[in-house]
Amino acid sequence: EPNSHMSMSLPQDLTASPLIAAARRQPVPHTPVWFMRQAGRSLPEYREVRIGVDMLDSCMRPDLVTEITLQPVRRHKVDAAILYSDIVLPLRAIGVDLDIRPGVGPVIAEPIRSAADVSQLPSMDPAQVDFIDQAVRQLVAELGNTPLIGFAGAPFTLASYLIEGGPSRNHEKTKAFMHSQPDAWHDLLQRLSQISSTFLRVQIDAGVSAVQLFDSWAGALSVADYERLVRPHSAAIFGAIGDRVPKIHFGLGTALLLPSMAGAGADVIGVDWRTPLDHASAQVGPAYAVQGNLDPALLFADWEVIETEIRRIVAEGQRAPGHIFNLGHGVLPNTDPDVLTRVVALVHEVSAAS
Ligand code: CP3
Repeated sequence: EPNSHMSMSLPQDLTASPLIAAARRQPVPHTPVWFMRQAGRSLPEYREVRIGVDMLDSCMRPDLVTEITLQPVRRHKVDAAILYSDIVLPLRAIGVDLDIRPGVGPVIAEPIRSAADVSQLPSMDPAQVDFIDQAVRQLVAELGNTPLIGFAGAPFTLASYLIEGGPSRNHEKTKAFMHSQPDAWHDLLQRLSQISSTFLRVQIDAGVSAVQLFDSWAGALSVADYERLVRPHSAAIFGAIGDRVPKIHFGLGTALLLPSMAGAGADVIGVDWRTPLDHASAQVGPAYAVQGNLDPALLFADWEVIETEIRRIVAEGQRAPGHIFNLGHGVLPNTDPDVLTRVVALVHEVSAAS
């Protein structure tokens, strides 16, 4: 239907995008590369525009979202932009009292601990994230033929923040809740699935070319608990958004979970540095592309070390049906941005030559 922010610019032509081709397991001129957390504290130009502006406030200003999203594309020549936002932003947008504390992460004022608390969590109306619609349209108009990746948090990872009240090493309150109050747990995950689906649908309607669902902390779960208590709700998100754009699904520490995660319905499976890409690809089978998986901490080692790793990862990825080069998790804040630029250039050079 018509949208009040419909821009007059032409749609992007992504027929030649290596990222989209790799996600669809089609031939590529070179391995596409982008970095989780490519926008952020590793960039001086990011720290500059964030002076005096709170993180979540900055995510609600389309002008700042556009600028910050474009910064790593200009600097590193990555094959995709990722929308500058956060997995907890939709929760703030629907009225959950939360903050992102620098160096800590999301902190929730009133954590969810009971079925009654769950029943208070509202659903999301697309109008509550109209600033996302505006930012994506502005970005798509400015990105030329570079694709924009949209994203959302998966229900388990969001639930962990809501129940623990903040970042957690052991997720003990979350696991107690999911096993002791299964009805309330499924109610909570169903609500989070609605929120993340709506958030993604707004981004897709506004023109993102791919989406990534972050289930960063899913690796804390056993395979059985993941499949029974979590996966149906992640699968509901992939089902709700349909097949208009390629879908990437990422979690950390998922070596044993990869086949189960693949069953949730994405096209591309994100892999951290602990699992070799060809092993991951064999685990999920030929119907999936893989994404990853340079250890972000190795960017602090000598360049010869990084170069050897890049050559190994590109070669392993070329044996998979499709490969998007990335780190195994987000860029660490003290990373030298010039190293990231060199990584992009070397991935392109090595993969184009072979
Ligand atoms: O990747 C990108 O460049 C796009 C933007 C993006 C951010 N967060 C911006 C951000 C994305 C995709 C995310 C996802 C996100 N947020 C995840 C999933 C990915 C992952 O890392 O596993 C999670 C778990 C969160 C929650 C969150 N937000 C954490 C744990 C933190 C880090 C806290 C810290 O300061 O170390 C944040 C804050 C955050 N999100 C920053 C950025 C750029 C740093 C904010 C700052 O400038 O201080």
